[in-house]
Amino acid sequence: MRERLESLKQEALNELEQIESSGQVQELRVKYLGKKGLLTEILRGMGKLSAEERPIVGQVANEVREAIESKLEEKGQAAERAEVEAKLAKESIDVTLPGRTVHAGNRHPLNLVIEQIEDIFLGMGFNIAEGPEVETDYYNFETLNLPKDHPARDMQDSFYITEDILLRTHTSPMQVRTMEKMQGQVPVKIICPGRVYRRDDDDATHSHVFTQVEGLMVGENVRMSDLKGILLSFARQMFSEDAKIRLRPSFFPFTEPSAEVDVSCMFCGGNGCRICKHTGWIEILGSGMVHPRVLEMAGYDPQKHTGFAFGMGVERIAMLKYGVDDVRHFYTNDLRFLKQFNRV
Ligand code: DAH
Repeated sequence: MRERLESLKQEALNELEQIESSGQVQELRVKYLGKKGLLTEILRGMGKLSAEERPIVGQVANEVREAIESKLEEKGQAAERAEVEAKLAKESIDVTLPGRTVHAGNRHPLNLVIEQIEDIFLGMGFNIAEGPEVETDYYNFETLNLPKDHPARDMQDSFYITEDILLRTHTSPMQVRTMEKMQGQVPVKIICPGRVYRRDDDDATHSHVFTQVEGLMVGENVRMSDLKGILLSFARQMFSEDAKIRLRPSFFPFTEPSAEVDVSCMFCGGNGCRICKHTGWIEILGSGMVHPRVLEMAGYDPQKHTGFAFGMGVERIAMLKYGVDDVRHFYTNDLRFLKQFNRV
C-alpha cells in the first residue's frame, strides 16, 4: 500500500507539473483528492491494515495528500496569475491615443443677436410676431402709405414675383398685419424678427438678404418720449450700461415724425474713432410715430390711439457687437468664423 501511495504521489506530481489553466487545477483536484479520487480510493483499503501498520501508512498518506495539495496550490496561483496577465494584455487600452472629438454645433451669431433682442423686448412686455417673407404689394407698400406711384418706393429695390407679390423688403408689413389681427384693441406691443430681401449688389456692408427686427407699440397716449425711453433701455442692455442714444429727424412714409436713431460709439465711448467716422455716434435704426394714415388703414382711429414703430438691421448690430467687418461672413458659413461664437 505504501508503494501504491508513493507511486500515486509521483504520478500526481508529474501530471500536476503540466498544469496550465485554473480549469485543469480543478479537474486534477477532483481526480486525486475528490470523493471518488485516486487517493481516497487507496485510503479506503486502510481498514484492512493491521493496527501497527495503520498509523505509518496514515502518515504516508497525509504526506502524499499534502504534497499534492501544495502542488495544486502553487500551480493554481501561477495559472491564475498567467490568466490575469493574458486578460490585461488583451484588454489593454492605449491611453496615449488621441481621443475622438465630438463636434458640437453652436448658434449662428445672427440667431444669438436675434435671441438677445427678443429677450430684451420680452422683458419690456413686448410679444414676438412672425410673418411671411413672400408678401403682397398691399402690405409691403400700400398700407404703409406708399402708393404705387410714390417715389419713396425707389428707396427699396424689390424682388417681384408677380405684379402684386414680392419678397418683403422690410419687416414693416407686420405692423399692419398685427394691427388688423388685434382689431382695434390696445395695447399693441410686438417685435417682429425676420428676413428681408432687396435688389442690392453684395459687398462688405450690403447683402440682398438680411435680417430686420420691427417694433410696434400702439395705445392711448403713446408718445415719442416712450419710443425714446424704450430704445435707450434697449441700447443699454444690448451694448453697455452707459450707452446713450440720439434721435435725428428723418423721413419714412409710414411714420410722422420720423427719426433715425444713433447710439454712442461702443468702440471709443463717444470720443470719436475710425468706426464712428470720428462723430462718436453710430446709426442703428429707423423709427417714428406711426403715420395716422397707417393707423387708419389698419383699422385704428388716430384720434384715439397713437403709436411708435422702429426697424433695425440685425447684421449691423451683430457687426457692432462682435466687431465683424464684413456682412458676408454671416452667410458664407466658414466654420473658422462661426466657431468663434461658441462661447458668447
Ligand atoms: N422699414 C424701414 C426700412 O427697412 C425701417 C423702419 C423705419 C421701420 C422707420 C420702422 C420705422 O418701423 O418706423 O428701412
